[in-house]
Amino acid sequence: VKFDLDLPSRDHVVVITDPRVGALYADDLIEELRAAHERVDLLTIPGDEACKNQTTKTLLEKQLFECGADRNTLIVVLGGGVVGDLVGFVAATFMRGVDYVQIPTTLLAMVDSSIGGKTAINNEFGKNLIGAIWHPIQIVRRAELLKTLDDGQFVNGLIEALKIFMACDAEYFAYSVDNLDAILRRDEAILDRVVARAMELKLEIVGRDEREKGERAILNLGHTVSHGFELLSDYQLLHGFSVGLGLDVEARIAVLDGCLDAKVANLIHELMVRLGLGPELCQQWTADQVWEAMQHDKKTRKSQVNYIALADIGKVCRLEESWIRPVDRTRFDQAYQEFLAS
Ligand SMILES: NC(=O)c1ccc[n+]([C@@H]2O[C@H](COP(=O)([O-])OP(=O)(O)OC[C@H]3O[C@@H](n4cnc5c(N)ncnc54)[C@H](O)[C@@H]3O)[C@@H](O)[C@H]2O)c1
Ligand SMILES: [Zn+2]
Repeated sequence: VKFDLDLPSRDHVVVITDPRVGALYADDLIEELRAAHERVDLLTIPGDEACKNQTTKTLLEKQLFECGADRNTLIVVLGGGVVGDLVGFVAATFMRGVDYVQIPTTLLAMVDSSIGGKTAINNEFGKNLIGAIWHPIQIVRRAELLKTLDDGQFVNGLIEALKIFMACDAEYFAYSVDNLDAILRRDEAILDRVVARAMELKLEIVGRDEREKGERAILNLGHTVSHGFELLSDYQLLHGFSVGLGLDVEARIAVLDGCLDAKVANLIHELMVRLGLGPELCQQWTADQVWEAMQHDKKTRKSQVNYIALADIGKVCRLEESWIRPVDRTRFDQAYQEFLAS
């Protein structure tokens, strides 16, 4: 793969990746970097969710000092969201903050986790609880890297791209639905357009509301109900999959709330079924169980569960000045039963 990088000139560059991504792409990347920079090092971390913790962070910091990193070192992160979140947080605190570049290699990392500056690690109290907002100086987009991603991981990220179009870009939503087969075949040109637009939208939203005081909440479309599924599956269900299911159920709630036309909810349902995200994945969970698990969502205020209601494709329904809207228990039950029976 040719990365065709255009990075600021630095004496020392450190590439950090995981073993799987490293085996596929590190050689090409290192070769290219060595042609342009004096000293280039490669560090590898395990890269699974379980390694996104303080122990790995400390180890990585030690390795950075050992290879002579200082405040002028440029860190290049090559990988998915796990590596991106962890290394981003390392960059945020190393010598009080060094520059880093994201080269996201999963679709989820491209359209979601590499953008917005949220970096974090997990601990025994939960996921992403310790972190910082620290933006990369550059995000390198290479749709070609997605060819080696497995189908599950691909759909996982695609859902987040579809979600953002659903929330704020009807034209790109239609384009993605019309070209879904080509996208799933990883047609590079079409995929590149979709990824570029999804990235641009998230950058714009985050630019207006970095600390999620208002508008950034719309990125949580589908994420209230999905939170319940994720928890009930003990995180075995991929995040994007549970969001796909959540988008379907939440669209039904929005219909019952009088925000959304049932035809649109139906369109969303058909799209999710096409992607393999049908109600059969949830039959083992009752409405009571999902409701209980949803209580732990970060949008819950004074034990009131909230969600983002869609008004139409490309438009979120606002309640007075607020982007979030309460979920009514009875309507949730009805929506969930309808979904299970669909
Ligand atoms: N910072 C944020 O705003 C934000 C947003 C969403 C998610 N996240 C975080 O992102 C993480 C999930 O990231 P993810 O979905 O990218 O998963 P991931 O980083 O675990 O990657 C998934 C798997 O794909 C492999 N892989 C990566 N790129 C590949 C490629 N091009 N070809 C083949 N295999 C490849 C990886 O080695 C890994 O095994 C979670 O920790 C989540 O908390 C952060
Ligand atoms: Zn998400």
